[in-house]
Amino acid sequence: MKKTEIYAHRGFSKIAPENTMAAFQEAIQVGADGIELDVHLTSDGEIVVIHDETIDRTTDGTGWVKDLTLGEIRMYSAGSWFSPHFVQERVPTLAEVLELLEPTSLWLNIELKNNIIRYPNLEEKVLREIDRFGFQKRVILSSFNHLSLHYLHSIRPNLPLGVLYECNLIDPWDYAIQLGASAIHPFFPTVDEEIVRRSHEAGIAVRPYTVDDPVYQKILLEWGVDALITNDPLVAQGVREQVQSTLREKE
Ligand code: G3P
Ligand code: CA
Repeated sequence: MKKTEIYAHRGFSKIAPENTMAAFQEAIQVGADGIELDVHLTSDGEIVVIHDETIDRTTDGTGWVKDLTLGEIRMYSAGSWFSPHFVQERVPTLAEVLELLEPTSLWLNIELKNNIIRYPNLEEKVLREIDRFGFQKRVILSSFNHLSLHYLHSIRPNLPLGVLYECNLIDPWDYAIQLGASAIHPFFPTVDEEIVRRSHEAGIAVRPYTVDDPVYQKILLEWGVDALITNDPLVAQGVREQVQSTLREKE
């Protein structure tokens, strides 16, 4: 029985502000198998970990990431919107997160948020950081921008890629193969048992997002998805334990 991994979505974002060092530290602390995060490029070409194209929602500043330097973005708190306890948090760089994860064995799923803004050379810059920190064997790159995934495959053919999608694709495993991806990262309600089975038959991993409801976690675990991407890795770990012990009893 293959163990479904649990990836902390934007870190352990249920209990700490999303995409901050605090959220990533919490995910490590509770033993998540991996971390998912989002990256954009600043005006001075630095890779920063933040979900939106602007800093408005998750910091106490305003403006587009593409128009601000790293130094300008770091002037603002990335945690006070969540709770005063996290006022010291700043928008991390990708390098900082890689450094944090380096001594661990966690997987890192980097989502390139380049589907709205086409950041110049984001792909090359991310690859450079992956190489610098030696993460080639435990990184997955994903994106809703499939042109970017296609490009990544052309410049780094063996890189694990996850095709992010929100709609109901026809034969998504075939689409993933065409793109040179090794996985699909579907919006969880679009997944059914046949998609999981046929993807696996085609050698494609299935990692649905963002699954926080234990009812859906249980169903997806029973279907044998490869990872659950969730805001609350602790809840998912509990459900995984239950599903595994039930399956063990049946064997
Ligand atoms: O990578 C899975 C998930 O994070 C994609 O959606 O909007 O939460 O980045 P979003
Ligand atoms: Ca994401």
